[in-house]
Amino acid sequence: MKVIHDLKNPIISIQQTIMDPDVSVNTIVNTCKSDLEDMQEMLENMRAEFKYKQGMSFQEELKEVDILNFTRTYLPTHSQLAENGRNNLIITVLKDCPEKLYIKRTIVKRITNNFISNSLKHTMGGFVKITFAKVSAYSIISSTYDWLHVGTDVKTENMYLSVEVHDNGKGIPIDKQELIFNEKESDQSHTNWDGTGLGLPICAQLSIKLDAFIRYISVEGQYTFFRLYLPITQEIGTIKETETFSNKFNLDDQSKTMKHSCNCVFLAEDNKNIMRN
Ligand SMILES: Nc1ncnc2c1ncn2[C@@H]1O[C@H](COP(=O)(O)OP(=O)(O)O)[C@@H](O)[C@H]1O
Ligand SMILES: [Mg+2]
Repeated sequence: MKVIHDLKNPIISIQQTIMDPDVSVNTIVNTCKSDLEDMQEMLENMRAEFKYKQGMSFQEELKEVDILNFTRTYLPTHSQLAENGRNNLIITVLKDCPEKLYIKRTIVKRITNNFISNSLKHTMGGFVKITFAKVSAYSIISSTYDWLHVGTDVKTENMYLSVEVHDNGKGIPIDKQELIFNEKESDQSHTNWDGTGLGLPICAQLSIKLDAFIRYISVEGQYTFFRLYLPITQEIGTIKETETFSNKFNLDDQSKTMKHSCNCVFLAEDNKNIMRN
């Protein structure tokens, strides 16, 4: 079952957190709680899929999701991996996003967790930024016309929730970019690629269950962007101010401290104990 591949994200998160001697009990509890919730949802989907007879696919129900609560759940799962690679993990919800919307929560989480874990795997000492935005079909077409596209067509009458995962890591070689969502191509044939090569083909299949699509662009040695575009069907309220949170300092705080303090060396410190004090 493909869900087994995706279960490795929360499992690795728990394993790395409990193996780190510097991590506080509070962090362990919060990380395990959040990861176990994710795993429980995935396992429920798995059980429901089993219950259906062959040929009838299981459809996850739309759930009401508070977008700020939802986005905060990414930090426990990915913070430890981010710290191991000395990466800054930054999550931003842009103003004008819906406060609440109806989505297939587990599937959205599985796709985006795959993007984030790929970014963290291929970035060292850099950043991985996750950005949520509400966008029109027109702006998608005009701003990403030269990106690669996977999944359903853009429907011009729709508004979309864009979930972007952007890193400044090693990037994807140009000759591999068209192949990475193709299960046969990305499978074992490229032995120099670490991992199973299953994550992105799973994302492509799952995006169809959401009536969504994925666009991506990458420059080797510079950056990679993956965006999941989800059609917004039902939404409640609007986020009034952009919200940003991070596993380390948020960038505004960093630049403020740099301007107003002479203790700049403290900011360059990556020893977790010192950073926490
Ligand atoms: N953010 C990224 N930066 C660099 N390479 C990436 C990134 N995301 C995906 N890739 C490339 O795409 C390949 C396929 O990804 P995926 O299907 O998730 O398989 P896996 O992670 O198991 O290798 C990766 O092995 C890697 O070469
Ligand atoms: Mg992967």
